[in-house]
Amino acid sequence: MHRSQALAHADHKYVWHPFTQQQEWCAEEPLIIVSGKGVYLRDIHGHDYIDGNSSIWTNIHGHSHPHIVAAMQRQAAILDHSSFLGATHPKAIELAERLVALFPGAPLSRVFYSDNGSTAIESALKMTFQYWQLIGHPEKNRFVAFTNCYHGDTAGAASLGGPIVFQKCIFLAIVSRVLPH
Ligand SMILES: Cc1ncc(COP(=O)(O)O)c(C=O)c1O
Repeated sequence: MHRSQALAHADHKYVWHPFTQQQEWCAEEPLIIVSGKGVYLRDIHGHDYIDGNSSIWTNIHGHSHPHIVAAMQRQAAILDHSSFLGATHPKAIELAERLVALFPGAPLSRVFYSDNGSTAIESALKMTFQYWQLIGHPEKNRFVAFTNCYHGDTAGAASLGGPIVFQKCIFLAIVSRVLPH
């Protein structure tokens, strides 16, 4: 079996893709991306693609940018990861300071790091909810969202999102916890 066939088979067998109907996904050969350079992505058959949406807006400086690769290699050799719970580290502190400096005079005075868009929305929901609770307005417990919007796939973010198919289970889970009170 060719490597591409073996990978396709293993993907269909072992992987779940986000926001993807599994049966439809498994009915077709998957697009297997093996490398990226600048604006281009290359698939396992050697076809090049322009990454027109910057891998869903996460790769704004291009793929395998030498400056970013070198910085990642340097940092990984010094400290690859440490918990931010109960500890901190120089790069996170320096980045926070630089981010806050981009907004002089604005209310943004601290940085809360998050892993991705969904958990950023989740954090924002929790912060705003807690804010109103703490200053004595528990009645302010509703969020306004656009129709058919998308805010991510964590529970809170999906509950604000448009497609009802992604909300059903979350609503059931939340309701069954809330009802006993
Ligand atoms: C408006 C918006 N909010 C949140 C998200 C979720 O981001 P992530 O996929 O990094 O969790 C997205 C992702 O497409 C988005 O477009």
